[in-house]
Amino acid sequence: MNGVSAHESRPPPQLDYVGRLILAPMVKIGTLPMRLLALDYGADLVYTEEIIDFRLLRSQRIDNQVLRTVDYVDRTDDTLVLRISPKERGHLVLQIGTSDPQRAVQVAQMVERDVDGIDVNMGCPKAFSLKGGMGAALLSHPDKIQAILTALVASVSIPVTCKIRIKDTVEKTMEIVKVIESTGVRAFAVHGRTKDERPNHAVHTDAIQAIVKQAAIPVIANGGSSNNRNSSDNTYDGIKAFWKETGAASVMVARAAEWNPSVFRPEGKAPVMEVVHKYLDYAIHYDYTFVIVKYTVQQILGSEQDSEMGKRFLHSATMRDLCAVFGREKELVERQDWIRQKSNDLDITSTTFRFCRDAKILPKKRKLSEPEIHEYRAKFQSLDNQEKRECSKSDTNQVDTEETDEVTSMFCPFVRNHYRDTGDIPKCLLLTWTLENALEKPQYVTERTDKTFRSVVRVNGRLFESESWEKNKKYAEQASAIVALHCLGIRSVNPEHLKNPNKS
Ligand code: FNR
Repeated sequence: MNGVSAHESRPPPQLDYVGRLILAPMVKIGTLPMRLLALDYGADLVYTEEIIDFRLLRSQRIDNQVLRTVDYVDRTDDTLVLRISPKERGHLVLQIGTSDPQRAVQVAQMVERDVDGIDVNMGCPKAFSLKGGMGAALLSHPDKIQAILTALVASVSIPVTCKIRIKDTVEKTMEIVKVIESTGVRAFAVHGRTKDERPNHAVHTDAIQAIVKQAAIPVIANGGSSNNRNSSDNTYDGIKAFWKETGAASVMVARAAEWNPSVFRPEGKAPVMEVVHKYLDYAIHYDYTFVIVKYTVQQILGSEQDSEMGKRFLHSATMRDLCAVFGREKELVERQDWIRQKSNDLDITSTTFRFCRDAKILPKKRKLSEPEIHEYRAKFQSLDNQEKRECSKSDTNQVDTEETDEVTSMFCPFVRNHYRDTGDIPKCLLLTWTLENALEKPQYVTERTDKTFRSVVRVNGRLFESESWEKNKKYAEQASAIVALHCLGIRSVNPEHLKNPNKS
């Protein structure tokens, strides 16, 4: 196993915010496949989607040696928060949502070696941001702006920026700009709309112009895309015209790039289907989730969704369905098989295992309390009796579990989309393994608290449990099976047996 991070050899980043064509931060859209595509088409800098500080602080950094990426994975639900490719080195800005200097600094220090710049969102008008004192709420609290940006500039060596909206007047906006400039940030982006204006309102190019004239640091102009996809504003020349008119140091593009990232290339936009296929190349390669891919492809397809193909696309419910619509199913399956194989070779069966290993989460032994011993004994006894009634003759090695007074615990949540077929689902693997080894079948006992569930599984006389609380009984059983597989060192079973475990 190659222990060297794909990112470790990279030189320290030095971002320049002058003369840059920039992919704007966009929730869901600004994920790895789109960022790479925008770079291929000529964007100089790419921003991630806004990620809230709390979520990043809940994450674990993982050096993904299969995909050759750095991943930040949410510890609480095992979902991917951020995936970064070394190809983005020198071009990547992470946008965070925050309302607190300490959290902002903690996040920035955590990601400093993986991204080239940190941007603070000060323009989001959505209720969840405003309620949390983030996004555009910060524009009413210059003291907070000052505290957050000053703390960030002082604590990381990569450039810090922020993205604001304009206020009702240029004077009021300039009051904020002066505060921003006093913190030592390298540049700031200004979206030429107020907090209460929507994307269909005309952008205030004149306000951006006035701000650029008075600002002491580079300004990145934003807001020039038209809500009409086919408008000449949403072309390379349209972007350049908006940029020139504002007089800004750089320009940042959201919607025009969301609908067609080839807008960054001077020779004119590429056909929509070509862009969809290039997007899928990256989405398949980097193992992106169906939800992100469907949403992004939908934005790119636009009116193509009215075609027969578009309707089939809209009905797709899995990544496999979606890829089949575009003739890419075989490629998806092959890539996923490769990823699976490679993960097995590296002894990585799922993100959960990687997480446990990297976080140095080790199985713990927990002594059962007296009531627990009695409870489990009674429940397992009843399951054993049931089993005996169902099987007239048993050819398995019965194990005496009467003496068990400890359980092996780990935090291993069950994440359904880590498992493609029923055959590699933890419970199925565990059952097959016990059958192959002529052991009694795994037995599960589940406890329920309000709406959450936790199971204990008994395998060969030993008990295993996951510390994660799951949303239903099935998931709870799967989570405990993961712990058993992990602790018993079970990596594979005979695939022939998996197809029909009862045969063995
Ligand atoms: C956005 N925008 C946005 N802004 C931001 O600071 N952080 C974010 O995560 C998002 N997310 C987001 C998602 C989507 C789908 C869209 C369309 C927009 C706002 C965006 O960055 C930009 O400021 C505006 O869209 C105006 O720029 P355009 O679209 O006129 O180029």
